[in-house]
Amino acid sequence: MPDILVRGGTVVTAEGRRRADVLCSGERIAAVGEGLDRPAGAEVIEAGGCFVVPGGVDPHTHMQLPTMGTVVADDFLSGTAAAAAGGTTTILDFAGPDRGEPPLEALARWQGWAERAAIDYSLHMTVSWWGERFAAEMEQLVRERGITSFKFFTAYKGRMMLSDEDLIAGFARCRELGALPQVHAENGDLVEYLQRKLAAEGVTGPRGHPLSRPPALEAEATFRCITIAEAVGVPLYVVHVSAGGAAEAIARARRRGQRVVGETLPGFLHIDASVYESPDFDFAAGHVMSPPYRPKEHQEALWRALAEDGLSTTGTDHCCFTREQKRAGRGDFLRIPNGCGGVEQRMEALWHLGVGSGRLTPERFVALTSTGAARAFNLWPRKGSLELGADADLAVLDPARTHRLSAEAQHQRTDFSVWEGLEVKGAIVHTVARGRHVWCDGDLRAVAGAGRFLPRRPFGPVYDGVLA
Ligand code: URP
Ligand code: ZN
Ligand code: ZN
Repeated sequence: MPDILVRGGTVVTAEGRRRADVLCSGERIAAVGEGLDRPAGAEVIEAGGCFVVPGGVDPHTHMQLPTMGTVVADDFLSGTAAAAAGGTTTILDFAGPDRGEPPLEALARWQGWAERAAIDYSLHMTVSWWGERFAAEMEQLVRERGITSFKFFTAYKGRMMLSDEDLIAGFARCRELGALPQVHAENGDLVEYLQRKLAAEGVTGPRGHPLSRPPALEAEATFRCITIAEAVGVPLYVVHVSAGGAAEAIARARRRGQRVVGETLPGFLHIDASVYESPDFDFAAGHVMSPPYRPKEHQEALWRALAEDGLSTTGTDHCCFTREQKRAGRGDFLRIPNGCGGVEQRMEALWHLGVGSGRLTPERFVALTSTGAARAFNLWPRKGSLELGADADLAVLDPARTHRLSAEAQHQRTDFSVWEGLEVKGAIVHTVARGRHVWCDGDLRAVAGAGRFLPRRPFGPVYDGVLA
C-alpha cells in the first residue's frame, strides 16, 4: 500500500481548522503540517480548496439484517462500499439474536457476515430478549469480545420490547460490566393500541404508520429511559432521536449533568411526515421506518439540540429495502419492512443542510459525523481524529461542488432513496480508509474484506470521561 500525501487542503477536526497536508503512511496518520515532503512513491491527493476531515463514523447501521420476513438490501460489502463513497470509514452495526438465541451465537453469525466489509466496523449487541443466559453472556461479550454497547427496545411489542423491570435489570447489568446501554425509545404498548385502533377504522395504507407512532410516544419513552438510567447510575445512548420532545428531554438531562448521548439522523432534519400522505405507495412506503419522519416543527427542535450539544452524534439507521421488498406491505402498513437507507449520503446531506445553511460550523460537522460517535463508543482517538498515530481514515470534501442525490447515482443496493432529487452543495471527492484510497473522484475501489473488526474496551467503573 503506497503512502498517501493529501496536499493543500484545510484540515478540520472537532477542535479547529488549519491549512495543512496530511501524510498517511501504511495504516496510520504519520504527519499533519504545512509543506510536507512527498515520500518516494507516495500517491498525492490534491486537496486545494477542499476540507480534509476525519473519516465518518456511522454509529448506527443494519447491514444484512434479517427482519420482517426478508433481509435488508445491503450486505456488509455493498453497504460499506457505499459508506466509503460517502466519506464514512467506520460503521457500528448491530448483532441481533433471534428470540431466545444466545447472544454469543448471534455474534458469531454477524462476525461471519461482516468479514466481507470494505471498511472497519464494530458491533453493538441488540438485547432482543432478556433472561439469565443473556445477562451471563454479556460478561464474555464485554470482557472478551469487545462488545461494549447493548441496544434495548421499549417498542416492537411481542418481539423485542422489554418491560421496565427488564430494562432496569439490563441497564444494571451494563453498569456492572462497564457497558453502555442504548435505547430505541417509543412506547410500544401505546403503539400497539393505536395500531389496533387504526385497523378498526380501516386505515391500511402507509399513512397509518406515523399515526400509530406519534412523537409523544417517543418523548415519553425517552424520558422514562433517562429516568431509569439515572436511578441505576449508568450513562445512556439514545438512538435515532426524531421527536422534539425526546431531544429536549435529552438536552435537559445533559444540562443537569447526566451522561446521556443523543443521536439523530440527517433525514430527520429535512424530511417530514407529509411523505406518508403520498398516493404513490412506493414513495410513502419507502419512507417507513421507526420512529417515523415527523411534522416539520420537530426539525427546529432537533437543529437547536444539535447546536447546543443536546444531540451529539448523527447516524443513519441504514436499513434499506428495495421498492419490491416494501410492497409486502401493500394493503397492510404493519407489513411494510421498517427502515431506510442513507449510509452513503449522511455526510454530504449534513454538510449541505447544516454547514451550507450556517447552522453548523465545519468543526461541529466533524464532531457530529465522527468524533462524537468515536468518543461515545470508545473508539477515539484511533477513529474520529486526525492525530498522529490515528488510523489513516479521512475524507476530502469539496465545498464548491454540487450534485444531485438519487437512487440511480448511489452505490447502496436499492432502487429507492429518501434523498431523491436533493441538490447538495459540498461533495466527498476522496475517501481514505485505514490507508487505502477507496473513493477517488467517482471511482469506488472498495475491497471485500479490507475492513477489520474493532473490539472496544469496556468503560471504566465511573465511565471516565469518554462519553460525548
Ligand atoms: O425502522 C427501523 N429503524 N428499522 C431498523 C431497526 C431499528 O429500530 O433501529
Ligand atoms: Zn431502532
Ligand atoms: Zn436501527
